[in-house]
Amino acid sequence: MNGQVVNKVSTRGRSRRRSRLSGIAVIMLALVAVGSLYTAVAAPSSAQESEPANQSMKVQEGRDLFLSGCSTCHGLNLAGGAGGPSLIGVGASSVIFQVESGRMPLAAGVQQAPRKDVRYTTEQIDALAAYIDSNGGGPSLPSGSLTDGDLQLGGALFRTNCASCHNFAGSGGALTYGKYAPELEQASARVIYTAMQSGPESMPRYGDNQLTVEEKKAITRYVRYITEAEDVGGAGLGRYGPLTEGLVAWVVGVVALVALTLWIGARA
Ligand code: HEC
Ligand code: HEC
Repeated sequence: MNGQVVNKVSTRGRSRRRSRLSGIAVIMLALVAVGSLYTAVAAPSSAQESEPANQSMKVQEGRDLFLSGCSTCHGLNLAGGAGGPSLIGVGASSVIFQVESGRMPLAAGVQQAPRKDVRYTTEQIDALAAYIDSNGGGPSLPSGSLTDGDLQLGGALFRTNCASCHNFAGSGGALTYGKYAPELEQASARVIYTAMQSGPESMPRYGDNQLTVEEKKAITRYVRYITEAEDVGGAGLGRYGPLTEGLVAWVVGVVALVALTLWIGARA
């Protein structure tokens, strides 16, 4: 493509049509260059969000949230009480799993805490997790993206480790004594990853020596992949997220506008 453009530029002046074509080619090249630059600049900023700069403020916020929303069952000092177990040493991941899947705060004495609408924002959940973790740590989320693992590997590991309870399509299934393994469709990447780390109810806990961080990330990506199978609202664009969508919409839109302008100009 590059050689073609240079070629066209060097033979300019032959005809008006030629030079207009080369103009279009240069504009296209510039658009692609700007687009790539945009992806390169925009990508890293979202990756490094959760910097523990004001960790103590976060812990303080988490303490306030805990005292108002959780302490009636889990005790004022996390040691547990009549309504719920001790949370000392459960770790940030267990908190993220329970709260981000809407299981906590628990409503009433049910046999298995069901999934409900999430009551807290992601920031508040992280604050709760930071506070509870600061009183005796346990597993916490690894840094970086949770869904950049190997899809193929994730599929193989899911079939051997998880499908027996959750079904091959992640649609869940019944377990003994009226318990059930839920469908995985609504689980965010954080909920999938922390489920493996904390092993809620009768689900096994997968420590880093059973499934490495890379393997858990691979499974997380795979579960998101199979449960998002249909692409609502058009092409999936490789499911790389809003960045690609925006980029494609932008490039396609601008190219269409430029083409329209040139066409109108040529008619005038
Ligand atoms: C109505 C009582 C009640 C309230 C309110 C409540 N919990 Fe719980 N919590 C429970 C019970 C009961 C369990 C055990 C449930 C189970 O095993 O399914 C539990 C389990 C948990 C666990 C899992 C512990 C482990 O061993 O891994 C976490 C974490 C947790 N709760 C956090 C919270 C947080 C954070 C809040 C506030 C946002 C909260 N809970 C509010 C009753 C409650
Ligand atoms: C022995 C059966 C069993 C196996 C094996 C198992 N799970 Fe689970 N899983 C459960 C049960 C039971 C729950 C519900 C726990 C609760 O309600 O607190 C659950 C809950 C979950 C959830 C939360 C779903 C939601 O949105 O609320 C996710 C995600 C999950 N499991 C993923 C996995 C993955 C990934 C694997 C394989 C690495 C796996 N599970 C292996 C039984 C199992």
